[in-house]
Amino acid sequence: MQTVRDLESLRQAIAGWQADGCRVALVPTMGALHAGHMALVEAARRPGTKVVASIFVNPKQFGPNEDLARYPRREMADARLLADNGCDLLWLPPVEAMYPDGFATTVSVSGVSEGFDGASRPGHFDGVATVVAKLFNQTRADVAYFGEKDFQQLAVIRRMVADLDMAIEIVGVPTQRDDDGLALSSRNIYLDEEQRAKAVALPRALGVAARAIGRGDTSETALAEARSTLVAAGFEVDYVALVDSETLVEHPLADRPRRLLAAARMGTTRLIDNIAVEPNA
Ligand code: PAF
Repeated sequence: MQTVRDLESLRQAIAGWQADGCRVALVPTMGALHAGHMALVEAARRPGTKVVASIFVNPKQFGPNEDLARYPRREMADARLLADNGCDLLWLPPVEAMYPDGFATTVSVSGVSEGFDGASRPGHFDGVATVVAKLFNQTRADVAYFGEKDFQQLAVIRRMVADLDMAIEIVGVPTQRDDDGLALSSRNIYLDEEQRAKAVALPRALGVAARAIGRGDTSETALAEARSTLVAAGFEVDYVALVDSETLVEHPLADRPRRLLAAARMGTTRLIDNIAVEPNA
């Protein structure tokens, strides 16, 4: 695996592959890689495709009171994991390459980015959309892979790509979970043993609510029960909501693909999760 830290070398490597008729698949990350990221790399690996992973802890998507300074950084271990999993190139841009002096552009996707995490974390999705647009332009990738765990992020990126006619395919990859069901996240390492044990209430509460709604139970009741379960487990609930899977509008019609979204804080750690609502599940 090649590791590249400047844009010219990145462009050269990618132009060479594209001249040879290869497709380029991008896996954007902020590092602290785990099996969830490796599922993205695995999905990206196809005959005739070169896989580029990026690691960039993007300051623009962290609020002033968020965990930018303590966000885990493990460049060596991440690089090893990517190489072992068949990644072809690691793009590790320094902050000055991403946001040089005078940088003045923000990509802002309205609607789908406004509720839920967008409401709790003002500016977060502007930061995500801006850096992802840059990564798409830098790599000129044909396809990019994102985890469904960040469901709203995926919806924002799909909207941006559609609205701006970006010539890139977006693939969502199902959430990878620990054996007890907790979604894998780089932030899980902030949980102590007791909090980690309690955190399993999040996927469980969502599963119970999704099954109830799928059976036709009133969604308000199911959502209220999920919130109570989370509070009883020690979470401070940010939101639990039933949305249309594409637009993220609440109160979706039952014949549309629907998703339950949740965010809740265990101590100082904010966890998010989501699950599809299948009819008659
Ligand atoms: O999901 C993430 O890790 C980040 O939000 C992303 C997409 C790499 C943009 O910084």
